[in-house]
Formats: sequence, C-alpha cells, structure tokens
Amino acid sequence: MDDNHRSNLSLEDMDRQSMFHGYTSIAQHETDGPFILDKGKGIVITDQHGEEYVDAVAGLWCVNLGWGRREVIDAITAQLEKLSYYHNFTSISNEPAIRLADRVLRLAPLNMSKVFFGNSGSDANDTNVKLVWYYNNILGRPEKKKILSRELAYHGVTIGAGSLTGLPMVHKHFDLPIANVIHVEKPDHYWNAAKGQSEAEYAKDLAEKLDARIQAEGPETVAAFIAEPIMGAGGVVVPPEGYFAEIQQVLKKHDVLMLVDEVICGFGRLGEWFGCDVFGIEPDIMTVAKGLTNGYIPMSGSLVGDKVWDVLESSSAEIGAFGHGFTYSAHPVAAAAGMAVLDVMERENIVEHVADVGAYFQAQLREKFLPHPLIGDVRGVGLMAAVEPVADKSAPMAFDPGLKLGPRLAKLCLEEGMIVRALFQSTAIGFSPPLIVTKAQIDDIIARFAAALARWEKEIIAEGHWKG
Ligand SMILES: Cc1ncc(COP(=O)(O)O)c(C=O)c1O
Repeated sequence: MDDNHRSNLSLEDMDRQSMFHGYTSIAQHETDGPFILDKGKGIVITDQHGEEYVDAVAGLWCVNLGWGRREVIDAITAQLEKLSYYHNFTSISNEPAIRLADRVLRLAPLNMSKVFFGNSGSDANDTNVKLVWYYNNILGRPEKKKILSRELAYHGVTIGAGSLTGLPMVHKHFDLPIANVIHVEKPDHYWNAAKGQSEAEYAKDLAEKLDARIQAEGPETVAAFIAEPIMGAGGVVVPPEGYFAEIQQVLKKHDVLMLVDEVICGFGRLGEWFGCDVFGIEPDIMTVAKGLTNGYIPMSGSLVGDKVWDVLESSSAEIGAFGHGFTYSAHPVAAAAGMAVLDVMERENIVEHVADVGAYFQAQLREKFLPHPLIGDVRGVGLMAAVEPVADKSAPMAFDPGLKLGPRLAKLCLEEGMIVRALFQSTAIGFSPPLIVTKAQIDDIIARFAAALARWEKEIIAEGHWKG
C-alpha cells in the first residue's frame, strides 16, 4: 500500500492497519478500534476527541507524579542537548547514571550493593534470573537453578520473566514457562485460607508448604524465590500478616536467594520508599522500574545485594567480562529523568503524602464498598488497591472470569470519565492513582466508581448473572 493511501486513512483505521497492540484481542481490536490518547496534565488524560478522564491507574502503575512535570521535562531536554546517548559497556559511564545508581542505593535496603540498569521490568527480571544462575555456577553448584515464583505473579513477558509470571495467558501458546521455574500458591487470605484461619496461621501454613516443596524438589536444586511485595496485576494480593518473615526463614534454611520485584511497589506507592520497608523483606536482588522514571523514559534496574555481588566480584579476574548488557543500559536521558523525578519526590515529600492520602483512600474504599452486597473484598496498602465484586459474598464465590464482567465494569468506569484496571483472572478492579492525588480527587474517584458499579449491578441483574 502506498504512503498517500495510508495518510488518507483516519487515525483509527491507520492504527487497525499498522499497529500490533500488546494484551489486546486482535479480533476485538479489528471491530472496536483503538482508544487514542492525546495529552495529559496532572492526573487527567485527554483523548483525541477532547474527552477527559481521571487516570486512577497512573498509566500502568507508573506515572506517579502525573503528567506534565516541568522539572522533569526540563531535565530531559537539557540532557538531550548535552549527551543524548552512550552505552555503558567496557567501563564507559555518564554522570546522570552514576548519580542515579548512588541515589537509588541510598534509598534501598542497606545491603544492596550495585545497580545494573535495563529498560523494562521484564528485562531486569531476566537479568536477575541470569544473575542467579551465574552466581550458582560460580559457586560450583550448577544443579541449583530452580526459581520459585507464585501463581498469578506478574514479572513481565520476556522468556525468562514471562516464565516467572504466573498467568496462564502469558504461558499458553508461547511454550512457557521454561524449565526450572515453579509456581507455588499465591498468598491470598481472602480466597485461599481455610475457613476461620487467621492471617498469621495461613502465613505459617504457606511457609510450611514452601518448605515441603523445596524439600521435595531437593534444596540443592532450588536457587531463588521471587515475589512482588504486593502482587499487582494478579489481583493486588496483600500478603497475610507475617508472610514474608515466615517465608524468609524457609529460604535462609535452604540457602535460597530472595528476589523482590519492586516494579510497582517501589518508589513510594505503598507509603514507604519500597515494599521491602513495609513488609520487612531482606532482598538479595531487587527489581525496580516504572516509578523510577515515572514513565517519562523507559528504565529499569536490578539492585544486586552484597551476598551476590561479593561472589561476582571475587570470581571476576578469573572469568573475565560479565557477558550481559543492553544497548540502552544506563541511558543518560532516562537517568536524568530518574534524577529529576527523585528531586520532585524528595522536595514535595511524596512518600509522606502517600502515607497520608493512602490511608484515607484505603479507609474510604472500605467504608463505601465493603457493605455493598456485591463487593466481597477491598484490599490494598497506600495508593494501590483492588475492589472485588463476587457472585456470592457468604461463600465466597467468584464470578466466572470467562464472563469478563471485570472488563465490563472497567468500561463503565471509562464512561464515567475514569480509567481503572480490570485485573487478570478475576472480576477485581485495580486502582493505583498517581501519587500526587489529593483527598478531593480520591473522593471523585470513589464517586465515579460508585456510579459505574450501580450501572454494572443493573446490567448483571438484567442479564441474570446475579440475583441482587
Ligand atoms: C511487578 C512487575 N514486574 C515486572 C513488570 C514488567 O515490566 P515491563 O512491562 O516494563 O516489562 C511489571 C509490569 O507491569 C510488574 O508489574
């Protein structure tokens, strides 16, 4: 097709003709077409027709400072003028990346030693898997390679990270997961605990199951355990009380590394700098991305702890160069964005703000929606939350995810002028507003959700999915 013909198409048709969208049904896209966004300011996004939407999910849990941050735009522009690119292989470096690595390590748990920069959460998690394998090869235990992840975990989509992810749609038809990745039970007290079991008892139970699984696999074959502090895309699953303390005892007993995926929880979303701070997790390796640069420029990091670093360092003279790195690792413009973002976060006390408005958000969500006959669970910490409608509250019994009632509810929220996230494999709706959200904006988010929920309730009663 020639260029003239293409340019005569509407944007919608050009998109249909040329774009391959991630996590999109090709068939549905062909009929429904794209939702084209034009601009953003603060926590509001505007589409190409001028319609405005409150973005209650900060893009994909990442635009923490909202849109249109002049300081960040200026820092990026200045860096583009100065040094727009260089790689960091063979000891080459640049000032913004050096300063960002130093700064992130000062914010992170004490034992974190080095930052390996990447471009996405997925590639950082692939780096982490390779690091774990490399580490055990150096230690002369090539059989210690299995990585434990959890059902419905989200760690990305590349071959390694997609294997760690515990979602059937990321595995099916892609020949994933690869060998040596095992998924254990997600720590979901609401859905998985026995009737009457306390959170602490359930956490103990999960640790015992983990111990048994490691014993069954052979501890000499199990290398690492990876976890999001709060599972994000897989349902905003908040771990039961004591979970990470119990789990870490088991991991230490079997010399299994703790990998913590802070891609969503990191940089303030839970009202502390990292999820590790909230739950007392002691990571050996940490993954960061998203909030690091607020989505202005892609950037991720693998934070490598002393324990792993010491082994890499001590073997280096013998092994030679570390044979891994990306063209865009430690990109100076991304690093300049990261530095500017952290400047704003510190100057505006964003983490303290989240602790305050996050507590309000959680309390309001529970107060407004838990009494509703359709809402089984409201969960979350800080500015990360999910509200889950259920078919029967007393059992509880979920709606069949095949009915796709969650995406329908998200669509009604869109009609109410708000973007939310229908979470995978359930009817739960996820919220992760930009961290700058105010209490008045939280009230507005809750009012829009209540309006959408009322419309959804009518629809599902009319269609016979719920008795009312
Ligand atoms: C916890 C977590 N880890 C990793 C990823 C993957 O990041 P990316 O999409 O940048 O590859 C995501 C993305 O949502 C995530 O939520």
